[in-house]
Amino acid sequence: MKKITKAVFPVGGMGTRFLPATKSIPKELLPIIDKPLIQYAVEEAIDAGIETLIFITSASKHAISDHFDPMPDLRAKFMAQNKSHLVDKLDTLPLEIQRVFIPQGAPLGLGHAVLQAEAMIGADEMFAVILADDFIQAEVNPLKRLVAVAEMKQSATISVEAVSDDRISSYGVIQPSEWQGDFTQVTDIIEKPDAHAAPSNYGVIGRYVLPQSVFAVLRQTKMDKNSEYQLTDALNELMRSSGLQAVKLAGQRFDCGSQSGFVMANLHVAMQNAGLKAQVLAYLSSCK
Ligand code: G1P
Repeated sequence: MKKITKAVFPVGGMGTRFLPATKSIPKELLPIIDKPLIQYAVEEAIDAGIETLIFITSASKHAISDHFDPMPDLRAKFMAQNKSHLVDKLDTLPLEIQRVFIPQGAPLGLGHAVLQAEAMIGADEMFAVILADDFIQAEVNPLKRLVAVAEMKQSATISVEAVSDDRISSYGVIQPSEWQGDFTQVTDIIEKPDAHAAPSNYGVIGRYVLPQSVFAVLRQTKMDKNSEYQLTDALNELMRSSGLQAVKLAGQRFDCGSQSGFVMANLHVAMQNAGLKAQVLAYLSSCK
């Protein structure tokens, strides 16, 4: 089996929950303190062995490409001023990492976004999909763990975590089989069920390792009632034909697609920052 070296980043979403900020800034560029969500996601991918980043974009997302561009003039200026700490902040992507931008064409859902990467993935090659708005803080790189399970099981593998009843209808939800430590075979997966119809409380997180065969399934997947092609529906089909594994996330996930998740992610990172913690805590304790 080929090593898993490619990751797909669907970044063509409209970010409606963050309007008007997302009129001109893609939601993946919203920062957690000073680093954009997409930068965290890319760093996780590179640390997990990814060498090619495939961004599935919408027409107005040049800012993501700009973010990863080198800035030689500013770099030289900071160097001349002995400001090496600022130079480090400019180096957003190692030069050896390849990046590819593919326009999605129309906002037709996550399944449709992933399908746009088809030409980039070889036969029998597995690849990662990362949703940057799922911001994860974990000791063990969550994508690395997924890759290990996917290679061991030779099967599509997704990341899940236990989610409260009031949030379950925001996620894909799995029916787990027997857990073997932190992973299990999936026996059912449903996109955004009502809480009473959810097969379990395990919600899907935006980290996936998929086989090339998912593209054939995606091409057959039907539009849902919201006129979108769901990756979850393709995963359900893939599960029936060649199996699907789920790995429990060991770490903390913040759903930065929601305003509360985004605020909490910022607070979480502020609490890790010695320069911010005391001030932020003092402010919070003064809040009613
Ligand atoms: C997507 C997927 C969903 C998954 C979620 C994770 O939903 O469709 O199955 O649980 O990402 O964040 P979205 O957040 O795009 O609505």
